[in-house]
Amino acid sequence: MTDSLDPNVHPDAERESEIVAAESQIYPPAEEVVANANVPNYLELREEALKDIEAYWDARAKEFIDWYEPYEKVLDDSGAPFFKWFVGGKTNIAHNALDRHAKTWRKNKLAIIWEGEDGTLRTFSYFRLWQEVNKFANVLTSMGVQKGDTVTIYMGRVPELPIAMLAAAKVGAIHSVVYGGFSEQALADRIADAQSKVLITCDGAWLRGKTINLKDIADEAIRRSPVVQNVIVFKRTGQDVRMEAGRDFWWHELMSLPVASTNFDTVQMDAEDPLFILYTSGTTGKPKGVLHTSGGYQVYIATTLKYAFDVKDEDRWWCAADPGWITGHSYIVYAPLILGLTSFIYEGAPNFPYPDRWWKMAEKYGISILYTAPTAIRGLMRFGDAWVKRHNLDSIRLLGTVGEPINPEAWRWYHRVVGREQCPIIDTWWQTETGGFMITPTPVVPLKPGSATLPFTGIDADVVRENGESCDPNEDGYLVIKKPWPGMARTVWGDPDRYVDQYWKEFEAQGWYFTGDSARKDKDGYFWIIGRMDDVIKVSGYRLGTAEVESALVSHPDVAEAACIGVPDELKGNVIHAFCILNAGKVGDDTLVDELKKHVRTEVGPIAVPAVIEFVDSLPKTRSGKIMRRLLKAKVMGKPLGDTSTLAD
Ligand code: WTA
Repeated sequence: MTDSLDPNVHPDAERESEIVAAESQIYPPAEEVVANANVPNYLELREEALKDIEAYWDARAKEFIDWYEPYEKVLDDSGAPFFKWFVGGKTNIAHNALDRHAKTWRKNKLAIIWEGEDGTLRTFSYFRLWQEVNKFANVLTSMGVQKGDTVTIYMGRVPELPIAMLAAAKVGAIHSVVYGGFSEQALADRIADAQSKVLITCDGAWLRGKTINLKDIADEAIRRSPVVQNVIVFKRTGQDVRMEAGRDFWWHELMSLPVASTNFDTVQMDAEDPLFILYTSGTTGKPKGVLHTSGGYQVYIATTLKYAFDVKDEDRWWCAADPGWITGHSYIVYAPLILGLTSFIYEGAPNFPYPDRWWKMAEKYGISILYTAPTAIRGLMRFGDAWVKRHNLDSIRLLGTVGEPINPEAWRWYHRVVGREQCPIIDTWWQTETGGFMITPTPVVPLKPGSATLPFTGIDADVVRENGESCDPNEDGYLVIKKPWPGMARTVWGDPDRYVDQYWKEFEAQGWYFTGDSARKDKDGYFWIIGRMDDVIKVSGYRLGTAEVESALVSHPDVAEAACIGVPDELKGNVIHAFCILNAGKVGDDTLVDELKKHVRTEVGPIAVPAVIEFVDSLPKTRSGKIMRRLLKAKVMGKPLGDTSTLAD
């Protein structure tokens, strides 16, 4: 069992008091919102769906997705926990996202509106996007990319990133998008694990008026993981880059070759063929490649977006995440396009050049739904109401949040200032592994600030004790999912045992999926997420593993051993506090602290840089040698140490 669920060391005492204060505050839905909702009977539908999940998902699969060939079976649980969905069905996500729309009136509708940090505007109709993706699919094919190959994508937030993803899907390749904020070793590890022969990147990316040298980082990563044979480079910043003859090619040059025709026959995929790998941090070791497949994932993300955010054809949808994380995969790229929506993408920093950048764009483009993370909300809240109020945000009708628990104070500010007290806030709890929203309200669900409310239709979530009994109201416990769902991860890339160990071991007897989160349900059955129970830290909503940061620290010649913990932070949710034991004769001074921070930045990325680095002589360990991070955390937070019986020393 996870060592950290110890009532004496509550991970977040502040969250505790917030929950108690907000639990009885209810924001009922406005009548006209309910009257106009896509699914006005959502609450009843939840009960209905759980009675027969196969019938429920069968209907959704037919409603939202076109199949080249129908499936024979909705759910095959014979190899549990390796579940299969829509067995025998043939489909391709790019067909549902593009091909079919290019033949209807949607041909002329905007699929993507993109604004660069420098103010450049680019738009893509469904027809144009379909053509660009076809062209790039032909480029990939001409390079020898085939069904089942992996392609790593490491780019800034430019429209060519979704184009690359969709083109990979179209040819039947498996994409692995690596967030553009990761650095050399993080990229190298992911390339090596996926064994990608093709890497798609940019010369550079814009952030706060400065450029990040993506191509240089990519070159170093390839040097460390030399499996890559070809690199395609999209020119965004125009900075000088080194192009290796025979290996590196410019995107624009390839796209103007005769081979890059606008016609491409989309490859038919089996519902269970891999669609993408997305690396995410787990309890131990290197990041693991979470695998999603072609059929069930589509059904799940389309249904969840349609219901939870009540999306309509006239909406302009803005998911302000990065396409390099699951939120971007599911809800910037795939689900909005499957549903034929207009998806807005912004390249740069929210407060550049001024703190009203987001509100200015929301006004300019008439955004109707904004979906972001608590850390961004808190960051923008800090600049005060005036920056928001300077803009007319009447077009916004719904707001959303994801990535970490939202504190009721930020919730109320978002609701009052951005939402003019008229917009429901859709607080969606989910994970890379779940593919799409799992616990979320829809606009017809009464809200409580700070609660993700109720499990989605067809989702059987619960909070349980170690022995599997359901917890009492307001008792903290393990958040589990008791029945399979179409969007669930299928395995860990190349390591099925790890998939079983990580998610299905804790409640093996019951056959439940363990999320790694602790939570509680209140007397109304509303879910309140407390936080991670494992060694995953959410920094500004980004998911990091202690192991990644620790291995970066020990890769520095002066560091012998390292341990990292997450410490609550008002703005970022959590920050990293690192403890290092130095090699004999090394002095832990401020210069070394700076050097180590810089080292983590170039190895993993800026998001992984510890806020505090403390030099120590020893670390608390169990007798089997496992670092007891729980004790380090209790010490930093001035809490009682709890049970120390397993401590070696
Ligand atoms: C946390 C992000 C509270 C949670 C989509 C989960 C949340 C982890 C929420 C997954 C929320 C996500 N309220 N906590 N609305 N959404 N989390 O894989 O701890 O990057 O396990 O997926 O984020 O992070 P991941």
